[in-house]
Amino acid sequence: MPENLITLKNLSFSYGKRKILDEIDLDFAPGSFSVIAGESGSGKSTLLYILGGFQRPGGGEYLFRGNRVYRRFGEFGLGSFRKKNIGFLFQDFRLLPFLTVEQNIRFPVYFSGMRFENVRLKERMEQLGIADRARAYPSAISGGEAQRTGLCRALLMDPPLLLLDEPTGNLDRATEQAIVDVLQALKKSGLTLICVSHSAFIMECADRVIHLKDGKIRIAEAGKIQPKRATPRKK
Ligand SMILES: Nc1ncnc2c1ncn2[C@@H]1O[C@H](COP(=O)(O)OP(=O)(O)OP(=O)(O)O)[C@@H](O)[C@H]1O
Ligand SMILES: [Mg+2]
Repeated sequence: MPENLITLKNLSFSYGKRKILDEIDLDFAPGSFSVIAGESGSGKSTLLYILGGFQRPGGGEYLFRGNRVYRRFGEFGLGSFRKKNIGFLFQDFRLLPFLTVEQNIRFPVYFSGMRFENVRLKERMEQLGIADRARAYPSAISGGEAQRTGLCRALLMDPPLLLLDEPTGNLDRATEQAIVDVLQALKKSGLTLICVSHSAFIMECADRVIHLKDGKIRIAEAGKIQPKRATPRKK
């Protein structure tokens, strides 16, 4: 068994002539919690899409449990790879407006033909504090509830890898803490987490912060992370 859940070797990606990721080498250990930070436009979401099996890299290798993901799988295979291994929380949630909270959570699994326990869905919704919003439509829920609906959907099949794109982007401090608590609990349960975020509170829970700039990375290990904190932390 390979030691790392993910290994990136010489990974590159460009939009046209614009290089977004420039020969990146990076490992993710199972059960680790990494934050990806960097300025707007630095390529954080792009990197997350590649990790999530949504975006083919221009060059280099993406190995997941030793398997060369993009070389080995065609589009159909990539779809199964994602369903089996990846939970993804999008930056803009991507909830379908004509489905309720619960239907949005069930939707991807419904189409995949995979099965899950209804009890498990109820437990997750309760853990995330959205059980009482199950029948509400996205237009009638708050930003934080939409975020947690997206998170619940990402977690439904208990994937080994959870990718989150700015999970606390527009949330107030209390709602942000609720998400941070969930992420910490998930880390304890052994899930591997990779999270794009600028939140000092999320960085504090992480093992390391990967800074992305001009297509290159710089890594700060836990203990050496010095996030700027906007507001003092409430105990
Ligand atoms: N489909 C696309 N075609 C061309 N350029 C794109 C495309 N998608 C993104 N870009 C550009 O690539 C760069 C990296 O985008 P990306 O979304 O990865 O940045 P980001 O770090 O996630 O930014 P933000 O913090 O604003 O979410 C940006 O300059 C963006 O405008
Ligand atoms: Mg982004």
